[in-house]
Amino acid sequence: MSQAPPPSLFIIFGGTGDLARRKLLPALARLAEADRLGRCHVVGVARGTDHDDESYRRLVSAALVEAGLSEKARNAFCASWVHYQTIGEGTEADYEALGARLRALEAEHGLPSNRTFYLSLPPKAFPGAMEGLAKVGLDESDGWTRLVIEKPFGKDLASARELNEVTHRYFREEQIYRIDHYLGKETVQNLLVFRFANAIFESMWNRERVQSVMITVAESLGVGTRAGYYDGIGAMRDMVQNHITQLLTLVAMEPPSSFDADAIRYEKIKVLKSISAIDPSNVIRGQYDHGQIDGEDVIGYLEEAGIGGSSTTETFVAMQLEIDNWRWKGVPFYLRSGKRLAKRSSQIAVQFRDVPVSLFRAMGAKLDTTDVLIITLQPNEGFALHFDVKVPGDPFRTRRIPLSFDYGDLFDDIPPAYQTLLLNVLSGDQTLFVHADEVEHSWRLYTPLLENPGIIHRYRSGSWGPREAEHLAIPERELWQV
Ligand code: BG6
Repeated sequence: MSQAPPPSLFIIFGGTGDLARRKLLPALARLAEADRLGRCHVVGVARGTDHDDESYRRLVSAALVEAGLSEKARNAFCASWVHYQTIGEGTEADYEALGARLRALEAEHGLPSNRTFYLSLPPKAFPGAMEGLAKVGLDESDGWTRLVIEKPFGKDLASARELNEVTHRYFREEQIYRIDHYLGKETVQNLLVFRFANAIFESMWNRERVQSVMITVAESLGVGTRAGYYDGIGAMRDMVQNHITQLLTLVAMEPPSSFDADAIRYEKIKVLKSISAIDPSNVIRGQYDHGQIDGEDVIGYLEEAGIGGSSTTETFVAMQLEIDNWRWKGVPFYLRSGKRLAKRSSQIAVQFRDVPVSLFRAMGAKLDTTDVLIITLQPNEGFALHFDVKVPGDPFRTRRIPLSFDYGDLFDDIPPAYQTLLLNVLSGDQTLFVHADEVEHSWRLYTPLLENPGIIHRYRSGSWGPREAEHLAIPERELWQV
């Protein structure tokens, strides 16, 4: 996809907000700088009536300074491509005014009526914005009209269904781009290449050869300033239901019939449908206590600003589940995610089955571990296949060594997820976006667990989670704890 996307308007609701300033506008400006954006004009939309094009351009420019863009890139982007329109109180007249402004910009810049509406808003504001657009006919145009929304897509199965229903009332599924930013990460996309462009691993990617699979998304950061969003939500909703489940489907899916959005999403949905109900006794929840991260003292979750002292929100969850299909029956999949863990590390560990008979144990070699493939998604993106070799000389000894590949050694520029995702929206490629059915099938798995949350274990900040969760992991701890 090296061609620039067709000319269009990119309209950001919440255009003065945090996500727009930190991620969306820098991603668009970088694409423009690299000449990848084509003739795409950005329209920031927000409630405020105190902005005009000029003052909004100053706000955007400040955001681009923060993001590290050069003065030349900032000026070029802001002066030519950035506009502002208020949505006031969100009345029908306000939406009419928005429509008139979009048509005027299209006329002025000779653009077809290709429009992307990015709702960078809290989810409770989605229905109102979608209805507002539809009421004045902005849900369709003579060109294309696309809608982008961000997680959370509901907080359980019922609310996810309701959101899908409301969204489909105004937009067709092929217009809707649900963002899970993990799908925009290069290493996550590379999972598909790794699996389906290389016969060697695919032939081992099944219950005959694989002993277990573990997906870990560990963060060293705490809840920070996001207490208002996070408390009452917790790790299962924030990370497992979306990001980790997406990784799981990519690891476990069958080869799609082609590399297109429908074929890939169909296979991902099949995985979700095959996952057996998760046994609550295979789920461990935890909450971080005070401790140390990188030698610095950090406070516990309950002491964080904005968190009630009796909160039972989990900041860690580990679980084991099973995929009940021909490829994976009997192979445990472990999912783990937590905040304030020892370090930031996202990885997929595929543990292969041991040899049927160990020839070397009798010779005193210590061979109590199996071969493991570690796919590191961040940081230090890369692959490592850990296996045993003989240490030269006597006595007979073996040592586990990695055969590894590090992205950073080969490629200097790994584009940030939003850059990839926004370009795909503009090019009309839904492969890296989440289908309505994926959202519902995923919530079907976790909603029963959320309804009966069970006890919460404390863990020290800077550790790898509560001790009670240690059995929900591959035994090769040293491979994912360092
Ligand atoms: C977000 C979660 O979706 O992903 C955050 O809401 C989390 O709580 C973040 O910190 C992690 O993303 P990344 O790209 O830093 O791994």
